[in-house]
Amino acid sequence: MSDRFSLGVFYTIVRPEEKAILAAAEARGIAVQRIDDGEATFGLDRPSGLPDVVINRSVSHTRSLYATRCFAHYGVPTVNSPEVTELAGDKVRTSLRLAERGIPTPRTVIALSPEAALKAIDQIGYPAVLKPAVGSWGRLMAKVDNLEDAEQILEHKAALSSPLHSVIYVQEYVPKPGRDLRVFVVGEEVVAAMYRRSTDWRTNAARGATTEAAEVSAELRELSLRAAEAVGGGVLAVDLMEAPSGLVVHEVNPTPEFKALTAVTGADVAGKIVEYAVGVGRR
Ligand SMILES: Nc1ncnc2c1ncn2[C@@H]1O[C@H](COP(=O)(O)OP(=O)(O)O)[C@@H](O)[C@H]1O
Ligand SMILES: [Mg+2]
Repeated sequence: MSDRFSLGVFYTIVRPEEKAILAAAEARGIAVQRIDDGEATFGLDRPSGLPDVVINRSVSHTRSLYATRCFAHYGVPTVNSPEVTELAGDKVRTSLRLAERGIPTPRTVIALSPEAALKAIDQIGYPAVLKPAVGSWGRLMAKVDNLEDAEQILEHKAALSSPLHSVIYVQEYVPKPGRDLRVFVVGEEVVAAMYRRSTDWRTNAARGATTEAAEVSAELRELSLRAAEAVGGGVLAVDLMEAPSGLVVHEVNPTPEFKALTAVTGADVAGKIVEYAVGVGRR
């Protein structure tokens, strides 16, 4: 056993993002422990040889929640913390927090049954957007243009009867200009920003949106930092839309991808993440 500082990377698969994080650590001479989220086990007693800090890169929200809690139990800090992971990984909790902090966000109504969901959609008006409370890449989201659409989607959700689909998150459809904004925040710093443009109303890079570097205006910077801070701060990607009334924040991602962002802006996102995590580990 050496007392050399080491950085844990908790991952599901080594995507370009994880490769970049591993390379950034290596370039800085930092020892790395890779921890596969499908192989790890967590006992109640603190094992020996743990890293000083763990960067969570698991693609599973459930695995992220439990693993960050277990590392915290051992006294190992994680980026992001269990609290931030839990809050930002849940769109309901994120929306509540953004509203509590007075951060502009689309009008949202939550319902806990398909019957109540029809009421929620009626309160929002058409078109409305339905999202799973936990999820990413725009998956399982639906834009409903009328009552007929709404009834069909809700019938499917009722039939699926999984906990994921029993919470119905309804949001006003924001008529954005064919693009949205992704701002990457590390600690107190805005590292880079990009536009994501698509003919699909869901402009996720994972759905094939075209990406382009965005200039970080004072307003964009302030709003993104406030949104990141609102969920507890750390390594966070803030998603915003240009609504007719101005910028609105619709999501804060706790384990963001950044391949496209790095490609279009040239920012050293992985390096920033590693340096931030080392700072957390040395605290
Ligand atoms: N209320 C909305 N109105 C219009 N477009 C939306 C709305 N909410 C989300 N979108 C589009 O769908 C994409 C995915 O939504 P988001 O809430 O970020 O979920 P995910 O976690 O799947 O990325 C956004 O990037 C945006 O392009
Ligand atoms: Mg998003």
